[in-house]
Amino acid sequence: MNRVQQRVIARFEEHFGQPPAFVVRAPGRVNLIGEHTDYNEGFVLPMAIDRAVWVALRPRADRRVHVESLDFDTPIDFSLDELHKGANSPAEYVKGVAWAVQQAGHILQGWEGVMQGDVPIGAGLSSSAALELAIARAFQAASGYGWDGPRMALLAQQAENQWVGVQCGIMDQMISAVGLAGHALLIDCRTLESTPAPLPPETVVVVLDTNTRRGLVDSSYNERRAQCEAAAAHFGQRVLRDVTMAQLEAASADLDRLIVRRARHVISENARTLRALEAMRAADPVQLGLLMNASHVSLRDDFEVSSPALNQVVEVAGQHEACFGARMTGAGFGGCAVALVRAAQAEAFVAHVEAAYGAASPFPKPTAYVCQPSDGAQIVSRS
Ligand code: GLA
Repeated sequence: MNRVQQRVIARFEEHFGQPPAFVVRAPGRVNLIGEHTDYNEGFVLPMAIDRAVWVALRPRADRRVHVESLDFDTPIDFSLDELHKGANSPAEYVKGVAWAVQQAGHILQGWEGVMQGDVPIGAGLSSSAALELAIARAFQAASGYGWDGPRMALLAQQAENQWVGVQCGIMDQMISAVGLAGHALLIDCRTLESTPAPLPPETVVVVLDTNTRRGLVDSSYNERRAQCEAAAAHFGQRVLRDVTMAQLEAASADLDRLIVRRARHVISENARTLRALEAMRAADPVQLGLLMNASHVSLRDDFEVSSPALNQVVEVAGQHEACFGARMTGAGFGGCAVALVRAAQAEAFVAHVEAAYGAASPFPKPTAYVCQPSDGAQIVSRS
């Protein structure tokens, strides 16, 4: 049994004097390719990882929600009849999901439980989407409504956009909701259709956390979104999904240079992401790696969301013979890179990155996670 799963169950039994009625989990994610494309209604290719938020719970007869967290000191406690926004804290994600699910017309029942996660917080591995989807599953377990992954992802995104106040796209919630063990998923962020893509045989995905975080992520992210909208508007479109590279090239003299580069990233990244799906279907790690490398260059030079630490870790990763490709992953400006690595040499690869990166840079030591593609949000057990 998973370590975190064990802990939430043990703590539940200690606290409530009986086993939980349900145990649910929802994973974090790493995106293999397709970055800053989701809010352009484009394509992304993330996988759910084997790090997750777990909740052990039992329904209550009333409409109160009470959650003991093993990660945070203060328990979360509120009534579903009186949802009020508070200062930013994990409780807001829980309340936000309750709000969005109720708004969508579901009748919710209260529950009580214990939660814990092992998705590193703030690293760009979507610990907040994992929390949102775990809570959506907890409410589903307690209240018994039907589960539709994409619909729940949209409600979780609504909670994050409108309750928590963070303007994210749909990728993180979608992959946490519908992830599939052993696979990445190509998600069409316009239709929310997803297509499973198996990891190439004998490869592993290694996440390299630079342990650098940048404060201005939100404002830079919103600025990129606005630049994409401005580029699309020039072509009479709402989103860059509907603009082709030929159109962009033909109009580039009339457009601001910066806007051209932003649009070029998004349009070329959509094409790379579709090619990455083909490479995965063809079990071709070499081609997939080359596409990941090209994605990094585009994010670094055209979209300008990388950072010196991310560039450094990607460069060092790419020097190792076991590495097929590497790139920054997630919103950028700090956080994590992702590398596709020959499985048999994963340990040697990690040792190389730690040694070479540390020796050559003023940055903190990176943390490496070898990640297994896992299932999306689920009820793991019920009694
Ligand atoms: C963050 C957002 C996602 C997506 C990525 C960039 O992770 O939450 O919706 O936009 O950045 O690809």
